[in-house]
Amino acid sequence: MKQTRTLILAPIRGITDAPYRNAFAHCFGGFDRAIAPFIQLRQGQRLRSGELLQVTHESNRAMRTIPQLLTNHPRTFSAVLRQLHNAGHEEVNWNLGCPYPMVAGRGRGAGLLPHPDRIDIILSEVLNKAKVRLSVKMRLGYHDPDEYQAVMEVLNRYPLSEVILHARTADQMYDGTVDIVRAGQILSVCRHPFVYNGDITISSRIQAFSQKLPGTSAWMIGRGALTCPFLPSQLKGLSLPSTDARIKQLREFHDLLLEGYRQRLSGPKHVMDKMLSQWEYLSLAFAKPHHLLNRIHRSNVSHYDANVDWAFDQPLADISTSLQYILS
Ligand SMILES: Cc1cc2nc3c(=O)[nH]c(=O)nc-3n(C[C@H](O)[C@H](O)[C@H](O)COP(=O)(O)O)c2cc1C
Repeated sequence: MKQTRTLILAPIRGITDAPYRNAFAHCFGGFDRAIAPFIQLRQGQRLRSGELLQVTHESNRAMRTIPQLLTNHPRTFSAVLRQLHNAGHEEVNWNLGCPYPMVAGRGRGAGLLPHPDRIDIILSEVLNKAKVRLSVKMRLGYHDPDEYQAVMEVLNRYPLSEVILHARTADQMYDGTVDIVRAGQILSVCRHPFVYNGDITISSRIQAFSQKLPGTSAWMIGRGALTCPFLPSQLKGLSLPSTDARIKQLREFHDLLLEGYRQRLSGPKHVMDKMLSQWEYLSLAFAKPHHLLNRIHRSNVSHYDANVDWAFDQPLADISTSLQYILS
């Protein structure tokens, strides 16, 4: 049965870039929109042309894409929002969730969550002038899973377009379990459309989460879709294609990605490096991912195509087995 839930492709830096988003929409479908991986702002500077190119409508024809910014500097933030508005964007996402010490340790991303006063100052300066809508993507907290309480009090005072929650603390990185109880508490106080994110991997999970989080306006999926690109369409009610059809779709996806990177990147070495990162996830669709990844990683530029042909002759994994890699 067709489902109407709204699905958003999560930003995964290094993976879900413009070629990925276009190829995904073309081959698998299922997502309504995407948030692009973060662009880290440099104080006092505008976006470079390469950064803008990643998020323009022309570069993302197949999937509506919202740029994401990482900053704690209000003046730079405002200037870049203006730049994005002039480039035709109506909405931008602010990253309040990045857990990496180089980012969070310097008071950006999740590093802002223990400082709701700073979030308040930034929002009041930025939203005063902004012509674009702003959403935020946050975690429960940096070290303390209850930091969200003071943060939500601040967020509720501003006209945000949505609040996306990855239901972990930054200290957890991507480990341990998501905290659905606290996600429910945020949902119950949140005055903005609430988007849930974290560990959506199979239909039964989203059903269970939906029961605990009624009124959630959309669902964001990252690793579950990277590992099983058929998942978003399944969550929309389509049945899983046959094994042969899945292999064909995965191969088409791979070839489109490769073509996308060949058009954008200079030199075969850069294209290869990009494809090797993609294989970290692509390989999980196969029955022996480590075996496959070893061979792909041993490829040099001249052997890559032959190794890819070999890979697509290997048996696919049972879908539930693939998904265990990101759940373990
Ligand atoms: C390698 C990697 C890169 C990520 N890059 C970003 C990013 O650029 N911006 C962001 O908000 N979240 C980023 N995330 C977090 C994801 O968007 C998402 O919140 C997280 O993976 C949990 O969702 P999932 O269980 O559906 O994957 C990243 C996660 C991973 C594993």
